[in-house]
Amino acid sequence: MSTKRGKSQARQAGGRAAGLRYGPALMARLDALATITEVPGQLTRRYLSPAHVQSIEQVRRWMADAGMSVRTDPLLSLFGRYEGKAARAPAIMIGSHLDTVVDAGRYDGGLGVLAAIAIVDELNRCGERLGHAIEVAAFGEEEGSRFSAHILTSSALIGAVKPALLDLKDADGISVREALAQARGDARAYKACARRKGEIAAYLELHIEQGPVLESKGLPLAAVTAINGSVRALMTVTGFAGHAGTVPMDARRDALTAASEMIVAIDRLGRSERDLVVTVGRIKALPGAPNVIPGRVEFTIDMRSPSDAARTRAHAALVRELKQIAKGRDVGLVIDTYQENPATALDEGVIEAATEAIAACGEEPLRLSSGAGHDAGIMAKHCPSGMIFLRCKDGISHNPAESITAEDADLGVAVMLEAVRRLDARFGAGALGSRR
Ligand code: GLV
Ligand code: MN
Ligand code: MN
Repeated sequence: MSTKRGKSQARQAGGRAAGLRYGPALMARLDALATITEVPGQLTRRYLSPAHVQSIEQVRRWMADAGMSVRTDPLLSLFGRYEGKAARAPAIMIGSHLDTVVDAGRYDGGLGVLAAIAIVDELNRCGERLGHAIEVAAFGEEEGSRFSAHILTSSALIGAVKPALLDLKDADGISVREALAQARGDARAYKACARRKGEIAAYLELHIEQGPVLESKGLPLAAVTAINGSVRALMTVTGFAGHAGTVPMDARRDALTAASEMIVAIDRLGRSERDLVVTVGRIKALPGAPNVIPGRVEFTIDMRSPSDAARTRAHAALVRELKQIAKGRDVGLVIDTYQENPATALDEGVIEAATEAIAACGEEPLRLSSGAGHDAGIMAKHCPSGMIFLRCKDGISHNPAESITAEDADLGVAVMLEAVRRLDARFGAGALGSRR
């Protein structure tokens, strides 16, 4: 057994290894953050909910305690800045998101934000400044759980938000603009979220893998090479509501049975192409009464693939097939493809820094691509960007059973700190962006 492998397996078998420097405090903070929720008894912290605002306030205090100056932008991304050796130096940005899916686990997003604070806290306690400033970012609406606006606030940072996005409404009819006003953000100032090129030298995000590969290989960490492309659509099927007891079966235009046939076709299509995944994650049948034939159904589609060509081909095939089903069942169908993100290669220089940092900490540096979407995929359009994945139990995510060990969390902070130092050296302050 190699030494590297040995370290990793010992850590996995782990127990509470003595002498962990960062892990226990980080896990305690993640537990504390997980208590900030909209729904007692589960973790649900959607963008701009009172719980999300409360989490911003909590994380703001932790950032300040770690020696950072803290501010929010108009869309309520939270940034903590730890200056470099020279004032106003370009920043290496590290972080992730504070919003969660409904009934979430406690590590998706939170790990990246709180590990980033732990890194700054370490530098601050040692009185150490790097050539670059470090900015810790806590983004919002990465999940798109409240509005149809997946990865919203990092998109604002790169100047990619269109004003129409701010008019999107949640399930209660509240728009992003109204929710921002309630949360003391400022939708009208959204353009002020955009950062100048060169202000951020590189972006690095620590995130749980959300899949089973690291665990199956007995490794704690991987450098991420690319993020799969995705498309999200809202389908509206319109039939005709009627009496459940009197309308004969062959005279019905039942929107829900039509939608059911569509969903089975979508699942079949998802299985037809290698590495393609398709999910119908939300469905609403109206009017929603036991004795009324459903007259209207809305459901979502989330389709992803590492290949944009395969995804585009599958999406076109899906549209054709669903239209045929609608015709056969005599129902209306409106397809609103509201978001599309191409597959994104991460920056080779940042991948190298992450790989070297994992190796320098004594672990085998695996390289993996990401099936999930991340703020890093947006940031990659703006500056050299990368990610480090951390092993999670049974690969489970978007589920309250998400789990990581204190040993892996400890190593995650150590590796991120090492990677930040390497980025600091690699992207010399005088040569910003020269590697792109
Ligand atoms: C975010 O977690 C996504 O990939 O949907
Ligand atoms: Mn995430
Ligand atoms: Mn997520």
